[in-house]
Amino acid sequence: DKAGYKHFMAKEIAEQPAVIQNAITKYLDEAGTGLNWPETLPDFSQVDRLTMVACGTASYACFTAKYWFERIARLPVEVDIASEFRYREPPVTPRTAALFVSQSGETADTLAALRYVRDKADHVISVVNVPESSIARESDTALPIHAGVEVGVASTKAFTCQLTVLFLLALKAAHDRDQITTEQLQDHLATLRALPGQINDALTLSDALRDIAHDLSDASDVLFLGRGLMYPLALEGALKLKEISYIHAEAYASGELKHGPIALVDPTVPVVVMAPRDSLFDKTVSNMQEVIARSGRVILITDAQGRDEAAEDVWHSLALPTVPEVLTPILYAIPAQLLAYHTAIAKGTDVDQPRNLAKSVTVE
Ligand code: M6R
Repeated sequence: DKAGYKHFMAKEIAEQPAVIQNAITKYLDEAGTGLNWPETLPDFSQVDRLTMVACGTASYACFTAKYWFERIARLPVEVDIASEFRYREPPVTPRTAALFVSQSGETADTLAALRYVRDKADHVISVVNVPESSIARESDTALPIHAGVEVGVASTKAFTCQLTVLFLLALKAAHDRDQITTEQLQDHLATLRALPGQINDALTLSDALRDIAHDLSDASDVLFLGRGLMYPLALEGALKLKEISYIHAEAYASGELKHGPIALVDPTVPVVVMAPRDSLFDKTVSNMQEVIARSGRVILITDAQGRDEAAEDVWHSLALPTVPEVLTPILYAIPAQLLAYHTAIAKGTDVDQPRNLAKSVTVE
C-alpha cells in the first residue's frame, strides 16, 4: 500500500522521521537517557578490531560507521564488501568482532561472509531489517533496525535506520572503552533525539530538489564528491542516482579529485558536492573551486553557513538544517535520495522496479 504516494520510494523517504524515531526509542532505556542492548552484545573494551561486511547501500552504512567507531570509540574497523571478503579468506585475529549489515538479511554474499567468520570471530553481530532472516538467525546478536517493510528496490529508510543503529552501537563501544563519559553519552543521545525533527525539515526541500533534478536529468554523467563522513554519502548518492535514473554517476573522496577524476570535469558533467560546514569544509570547498575553475557545474549540498560562505559561483545550492558533525550522514542521505528520486521522475524511469535489479540478491 503506497498510502497515497505515487511510489513506494516516495513513501519510504517520507517515513524516515518516524522510523528513525522508532529505531532510536527501541535502543534507549525508559528514561531515554541511556542505552538498552541485548545482553549478548560484547563488552567492546574486550574487542580489538571490528570487521564490517555488507553489499551495496548497506556497505555504505558500514563505511560511514567506520568513522564513528574509529573516531568516537577509538576502535579499529575494517569494512569490506561481502563478495570480496568471502573469497579472500581473510585472517581473523583474536578479539575480533564481526558485524554484518543487511536490509533483507538474505543477501547471498553477506550470508556466505558471515558463515566464513562464524567460527573465527569472537562475536558475530548483525544489523538487519528482517528479524527472522538467515543473517539474523545465524548471528550471535541480531539488532533489528525497525524500519518496517521496504518495498522500493532503491534502499532509503533502511539505510538511515542502519546508520541510526550503528551510531548508537558506536556510542556503546565508546562508553565500554572509556572513550566517552556517561554525560557525553547523554549529550549524544539528546542530539540524536532531535534528528527526526531535522529530517522532517530536510524533507521540505523536496520541491527545491525537484527543480535541481530537472536540470540534472539532461546529464549523461554525474560526479559526487565528499570528504570524511560525506565520502560514503557521496557513494550512496551516486549509487541511488544510477540505480533509478540510469545516469552514470561516480563518487570520489574530494581529496582524490586531482588523482584522476578532475580530467572528466567540463560543463556537461554536473558535480554534486556534499559539504556541511564541518571541520573539513574548507578542504572540500577548495576542491569545489578547482571544479568551478574548469567550468564544472556544481550542485552544493550544505547548510546555511556553508551556503553563505561558498555558494557564490555554484550552479545550484541547497541549505539543510545544521546538525552536529557526527550526525550529518543521516541527514544528508535525504537530499541524496530525493535528488535521485526526482531525476528518475524527470526521466520517466521505473522508480520502484528499476531494470535489471532485484530487491533481494539471493544468488551471487
Ligand atoms: O538486503 P541487503 O541490505 O543485504 O541488500 C544489499 C544491496 O543489495 C542493496 O543495498 C542494494 O545496493 C540496493 N538496491 C541499494 O539501493
